[in-house]
Amino acid sequence: RFEQSLRPQLLSQYIGQEKVKDNLGIFIEAAKGRNESLDHVLLYGPPGLGKTTLATVIANEMEVNVRLTSGPAIERPGDLAAVVSSLEPGDVLFIDEIHRLNRSIEEVLYPAMEDFCLDIVVGKGPSARSIRLDLPPFTLIGATTRAGSLSAPLRDRFGVPLRLEYYEVEPLKEIVIRNAGVFDVEIDEQAAVEIARRSRGTPRIANRLLRRVRDFAQVRGNGAITLGIAKEALEMLQVDSHGLDHIDHKLLLGMIERFKGGPVGIDTISASIGEESVTIEDVYEPYLLQIGFIQRTPRGRIATPLAYEHFGYAFPES
Ligand code: ADE
Repeated sequence: RFEQSLRPQLLSQYIGQEKVKDNLGIFIEAAKGRNESLDHVLLYGPPGLGKTTLATVIANEMEVNVRLTSGPAIERPGDLAAVVSSLEPGDVLFIDEIHRLNRSIEEVLYPAMEDFCLDIVVGKGPSARSIRLDLPPFTLIGATTRAGSLSAPLRDRFGVPLRLEYYEVEPLKEIVIRNAGVFDVEIDEQAAVEIARRSRGTPRIANRLLRRVRDFAQVRGNGAITLGIAKEALEMLQVDSHGLDHIDHKLLLGMIERFKGGPVGIDTISASIGEESVTIEDVYEPYLLQIGFIQRTPRGRIATPLAYEHFGYAFPES
């Protein structure tokens, strides 16, 4: 698929996350040198930073197949049995949103991870019995936006926990330039920096903005993405200088205008702006914390002087 070529295939093509790549490179080379499957990997961090991409890169580097599934898609032990019993030795099983696996599946997963076997109960009542399926050695790669929501026994079974960080502007700029190349569209370096600066440290957002700016360049310009075109397009998309969108604005302005900057509880904010609190906690809040626009206190969230300044408000002196 065309889409696939946007995704890097090898660690050497994967931009940013240097610490994660350094570590993975060693573990992959060591496992390959021993002819073993790679130990189980837990990827955690905010959404859109490339967890699925990294899982496919790991599988490519290990020269094995990857099966992609997600926590909510595995409803019964039989669903898990169906997936793992189709694996070949060394394959990668990727479970996205692994914090949403239900506990009864976790129980089946433990022996699969530890001893590569599956105990499943067949039949009902007095004739029910447990049968043991031997599995090929495989690598489970779990991905989650909230490592804290994993049960401790599950978290402890991952030999390689890796935390993905928001990207700096420089690597994001490289990703934008690389992907403009894949789209075969001309882009100025300054335009790439502008898109990178407004992408909330997140490649998925950078790629989405790049597509929209490309549309704008095609219709309003001559197809090339200049700084001027990028700025106009981003303005029209209502993406501000920090990459904040209208939901961030509602959130911050709600805190400032209705709650005097806080402290205010997450559920109160959620009700007042009509966004689910898990979405606020997993998607919006981590970046606003990262750039210092909000802080968490035991009594709730507060908007910082930086947030006030961003909207042209004076910070109330207490
Ligand atoms: N596309 C999305 N994320 C990427 C990354 N980290 N490196 C290269 N291309 C990407």
